[in-house]
Parts: sequence; C-alpha cells; structure tokens
Amino acid sequence: MAEVELKRGLRDVYFDNTESSNVIGDIGRLIYRGYDIHDLAEKSTFEETVYLMMHGQLPTQAELDAFDSTMRSSRAIPQEVIDIITSIKQGHPMDVLRTALSALSSFEPDVDDVSHEGTLRKGIKIAAQAPTIVAAHHRIRSGDKPLDPDPSLNHAGNFLYMLLGEKPDEDTSRLMDKDLIVHLDHGSNASSFAARVTASTLADIHGAVVTGVSTLKGPLHGGAAEGVMKMALEIGEEGNVEAYLAGKRERRERIMGFGHAVYRAEDPRARHLREGSRELANKKGQPHWFEILSKVEEHMRPYAERGICVNVDFWSGSVYYLLGIPEDLFISIFAVARVPGYVVQVLEQQDKNILLRPLLNYVGPTDLEYVPIANRG
Ligand code: CMC
Repeated sequence: MAEVELKRGLRDVYFDNTESSNVIGDIGRLIYRGYDIHDLAEKSTFEETVYLMMHGQLPTQAELDAFDSTMRSSRAIPQEVIDIITSIKQGHPMDVLRTALSALSSFEPDVDDVSHEGTLRKGIKIAAQAPTIVAAHHRIRSGDKPLDPDPSLNHAGNFLYMLLGEKPDEDTSRLMDKDLIVHLDHGSNASSFAARVTASTLADIHGAVVTGVSTLKGPLHGGAAEGVMKMALEIGEEGNVEAYLAGKRERRERIMGFGHAVYRAEDPRARHLREGSRELANKKGQPHWFEILSKVEEHMRPYAERGICVNVDFWSGSVYYLLGIPEDLFISIFAVARVPGYVVQVLEQQDKNILLRPLLNYVGPTDLEYVPIANRG
C-alpha cells in the first residue's frame, strides 16, 4: 500500500482561495473583506457588514437603505412553519431552527435556483427569517404568542424584541448588533466548511444553510458559550475559581471559552464582548458574573504560553445571560449571526465551484472471504 500523508482533521490544509474573511491565528487578527473586525465592530452595523460580505464592498447610503429595507420586509415566516415549530416546540432551539429553515424551502418557488442572483436573493431572505424562527420558537415554548417582526427596528433590535417581548434600549440593541457582527464569518470554520460541501454538490442554499446550522450545534463549535455560563454558575463565587479550575485540570477537562483551532493569540472578537459584558453587568447591578469570569481569565493566563487563549464564546455567554436569554438559546444567537456568513461562503463556492471530495486512507482488511451467515461461528 502506498504511503499517504494524512492531515487529520484537515488541519493546515488550504482547499481554496477566499476573499471573504481572513483569520490570522498567530497574531489574533480577523479581517472581513479587507476591513479589520475592530473597525467593523466599533463603526459599522450588522446590516452594513452583511452587505459588505455579500456584495464585496461597503454600500453607498442608497444601497444600504435598499438592502436594509429588503431585510426588514423579508422577516415574516409562513403560518405553516409556525405550526411546525409549535408541533416540535419541546426540541432544542437549534434542532427546531434547522427543521424550520428546512421547511422554509418548501415555500420557496425557486428552491433549485443555484445562480448567483438566486442564491443571493434567497440567502438575504433566510438571513432575515432566522431570528424570527428562533424568537417564535422561544415564545411558543414559553406559552406566549409569537410576535410579528417590527419593521421600525433594526435586525438586532427586532430580534431582541421578538425574543424577549420588549423593545431594547439603544445600548442593548447596539451590543447585540456588535455581537452579530463579530460572529458573522470566520474563515473555514467547521460549519461554513460543511455548508460549502453541501453547496459544492450544487444543492440549494436552504440545504447548505441547514448543513451549517446542524454543524454549528456541537459543543466544540457553537456550543461553548452555553458551557461557559454553566461553568460560571457552577463556580458561584469569585473565591471558588481557583479550586474549580484545579479540579478541571486534574480531571483533564477542557475549559469552555478557551482555545481555538486557528488562534494562538487572544481571539480578537473577545474584547468587544468583554467590554459589553462589563458595561451590561454594571448597568444590571450584577457585577458578580463579570468578576467570576475575569478571575477565570486571570487564572487561565499560563495556558496562553501553549496558545490556549480566551475565545469569543467566553464573553458572549455572560452577555446573553445578563440580557435574560435562556442558556439553551445561546447557540441559536450564534446561528442567527452566522447564517448570512454561510450565504457568503456558499456564493463564493458556487461562483467557482468544484465538488469538495477529499480522500480517506483505508486501513482495514482487504481480502476477507465472505462466509454465509449459517456458517459463522
Ligand atoms: N481547556 C484546556 N485545555 C485545552 C483547551 C481548553 N479549552 N483547548 C485545548 N486544550 C488542550 C488540549 O487538551 C490538548 O492538550 P494535550 O495536547 O495535552 O492533549 C491541546 O490543548 C490541543 O488540543 P486540540 O483539541 O488538539 O486543539 P485544537 O486547537 O484543535 O482545539 C478547540 C480547538 C476549540 C476544539 C479546543 O480549544 C476546545 O475544545 N476549546 C473549548 C471549546 C470552545 O471554547 N470552543 C469555542 C471555539 S471559538 C467559537 C468558534 O469559532 O467556533
């Protein structure tokens, strides 16, 4: 058998060129279409950043207004999809989200259109509808009626309104806006790669987005924010941090919210949510969680020498918690931000498509003799 060079987990393998996002792991930088994530998080809006990512350049005011208006008018979901959500309301929010996104394809007349224009048109609609699904499911399972989207609110503000039933103040809406910006895209992350694999077969955008959302659910990817807040609740108070982390180390358990497949320095997205968490904790009169997590970060500093640094999910969980969002919805918020990111990557994949089909090195036996079942010992 010929020797093959295995790249387990496809680590350090470049499978194509991209112009959408660049994760520079050794120095902890993230670039969207040439712009630093810090500039976009501080100065842009989610709608403008989605436009940038989908179209390749920043919009003029008129372009942004038209794009924003399309997003706002595309938020509603059919009653049939609300009925499906109702019938599976006991499921995990991510399972409900993927099922509802899949169901939406049945209401799309051009479901099989995989042209650039078709994918973009449907992709903008899916991006606008994803928050409506998450919010409708949460309200239905809580015994409330889903709220209609409010076209006077931006994407982030409307999401919080539909989810929590109250129009957020400007600071809260801006914090969610930032959170969505920093989660939008992230190079060849596992779920975007999975979405690309689906798109590479010339399957449609709904299928590719469902693949992405299904892949995001795992605790090593989108599920970490939930794990971080569980950890903070288990720790309970600042004085318990050291002993808690020592116990984890002894049992060789991972600390959620630390480490990354690409970053060997601090994840550049983390700082925006750390600041947001600090401000929100003070505003809500609950500095407690911020203090516990800051202590965890301090005690984890020695890990940085091994390239295990804080990642985006370490701080996002506390932001969601302080906003009053239940923990099992944390990944769904990540998904709401990442759905347009899948659309961007699917467009890029389709524009210069090649079927994604790597090889597996077979190491099992080859010449076994088939024995009829009656003769097997
Ligand atoms: N806590 C303790 N040890 C860790 C951690 C951690 N969070 N992350 C990695 N390590 C150790 C790991 O045990 C291993 O040690 P050893 O070599 O002694 O066995 C070493 O670091 C390398 O681990 P790896 O899994 O090969 O490294 P990776 O770069 O593939 O891991 C990761 C990436 C994200 C899967 C991992 O860091 C992890 O499990 N982190 C916790 C989950 C988490 O926070 N995920 C969110 C990622 S950011 C959101 C996103 O973009 O998806």
